[in-house]
Amino acid sequence: MTLTLTKPIAYWHSDYETGNLQVDQEHQELFEIVNVLHDAVVTKQDFDTTYEILNRLASHTVEHFQTEEALMLSVNYPDYERHKQTHDHLVNKVSHLLKKFRDRDTAITTDITQFLTEWLSHHIKGEDQKMIRFFQNK
Ligand SMILES: [Fe+2]
Ligand SMILES: [Fe+2]
Repeated sequence: MTLTLTKPIAYWHSDYETGNLQVDQEHQELFEIVNVLHDAVVTKQDFDTTYEILNRLASHTVEHFQTEEALMLSVNYPDYERHKQTHDHLVNKVSHLLKKFRDRDTAITTDITQFLTEWLSHHIKGEDQKMIRFFQNK
């Protein structure tokens, strides 16, 4: 990524730490990509650049959710289904957005990067921290 970020939207805070190194690293990467996407929107980057970032975000999201789902399955996490449903919901939303953007049927706006930031913060501080606490108490 060669873009220079001017004003990030997703600020990482220690409140978001779960205590699981891999999960925390992947969350920070997602924050970074949301910031790069936001920067591309604000600085009006061309279609290909924006599409590439959105595509990266979609694939990192899928990979990250797979990490968490594998962790949950490995310990028979009791709330697996509900947690996975919230993941699936976001994956569907992001794939839909990617497709619509690819078809030039929608624009990526700061409302979208704002939504992604809020979704991530909310999910990390809720479901993800709850999940890691469960592993730590095993
Ligand atoms: Fe997560
Ligand atoms: Fe999660």
